[in-house]
Amino acid sequence: MSATKQLNIGLIGTGFMARAHSNAYKRVGDFFPEIGYRPILHTVCSRSDEKVRAFARQWGYKNSVTDWKLLVEDPDIDAVDICVPNDLHAEIAMAAAAKGKMILCEKPLARTVAEAEPMVAAVERAGVPNTVWYNYRRVPSVTLAKQVIDSGKLGRIFHYRANFLQDWTISPELPQGGEALWRLDVHSAGSGVTGDLLAHCIDTAMWLNGGISDVSAMTETFIKERKHQESGKMETVGIDDACIFHCHFDNGSLGLFEATRYARGQKALYTFEINGEKASLRWDLQDQNRLEYFDHGDESIVRGWRSIHVSDSDQPYIDHWWIPGVCIGYEHTFVHHVADFLKSLETGEPCQPTFRQALETQKVCDAVLESASSRSWVDTEVEWG
Ligand SMILES: NC(=O)c1ccc[n+]([C@@H]2O[C@H](COP(=O)([O-])OP(=O)(O)OC[C@H]3O[C@@H](n4cnc5c(N)ncnc54)[C@H](O)[C@@H]3O)[C@@H](O)[C@H]2O)c1
Repeated sequence: MSATKQLNIGLIGTGFMARAHSNAYKRVGDFFPEIGYRPILHTVCSRSDEKVRAFARQWGYKNSVTDWKLLVEDPDIDAVDICVPNDLHAEIAMAAAAKGKMILCEKPLARTVAEAEPMVAAVERAGVPNTVWYNYRRVPSVTLAKQVIDSGKLGRIFHYRANFLQDWTISPELPQGGEALWRLDVHSAGSGVTGDLLAHCIDTAMWLNGGISDVSAMTETFIKERKHQESGKMETVGIDDACIFHCHFDNGSLGLFEATRYARGQKALYTFEINGEKASLRWDLQDQNRLEYFDHGDESIVRGWRSIHVSDSDQPYIDHWWIPGVCIGYEHTFVHHVADFLKSLETGEPCQPTFRQALETQKVCDAVLESASSRSWVDTEVEWG
């Protein structure tokens, strides 16, 4: 099909994710020309008129507004993209669903399950296409891991472990809240590393290894008080700075997860490893063009971990980019997500993760926080289809 149907995008936010998504909308038609929908950068919204106009100019949006309600109500906009702090996701998504818009929402879906459930109901009631940007599924090496696992090469799975380590909040002088530091303010973020970092690890883990049934967790808030950017006063820090949990998966395997913003020297060390009866896989975001694989079936004298450079045209997504052997990077995961979303409009198959699937990740996050505060095992109630 030729690229003839235009999809007017209304993007809310002008920060990190707004840039990543804008880049993806601009690139997708060039690299996935077979898809019959073409995103148009129609309107961008942010609270500062000066900033939003500059963003619109830089990225090529036709219009800019400072009130997201105007964007959601604009009849010319087909799809609303939510790239704002977590406390705004629910209100915007429900307003957009009520107007019949398609919705692409950043992760985590919301701050809590209670907030996320009406969002799922709203998009399903409205029958609008929806997806949540858990973009790591679309790193080619992670998609390849999924193919390898689904092919049965690992056999029975025993262990899944994942880390997401950073170090940017160690200083007690760092304030909380406000435009740049909303992640440290529990009212904006909902939680700390659990919703921000572990949500990614949990989404990937359940996609690769199935549902998580119960969890036992501990969290820590190392810096108990920080000055709030908006009030100017010292306020209690309500987020988790670090979180460790272990869990059972529905398939009987054991999981171990850790996330922190206090691992000096680590900027975004997202890694996972999965150990099966016949083979194991290991992945590292900072070496994302590679997937490590150990196959116990190899001849014993040459048996060992192999490092697969995921850059050949028969590996996921790669045939849309360059020649075999050269690399792609972080921004491509968002292009892949947009491509899959647009394809889903053609096929009618939902683009995963939908709001409903992202709700399952939210259930694990809530169970983790509840377990940490009650110091007990908590059932997640996850239904992973
Ligand atoms: N998929 C990923 O890997 C990933 C990575 C980073 C962030 N995120 C998620 O994306 C979302 C945004 O994060 P970010 O890093 O882009 O944050 P950011 O701080 O860089 O940008 C947030 C933007 O929201 C705007 N904003 C805030 N309140 C607003 C309002 N009332 N109306 C309009 N605009 C408003 C701000 O002006 C800013 O432009 C969060 O939910 C976050 O969890 C996902």
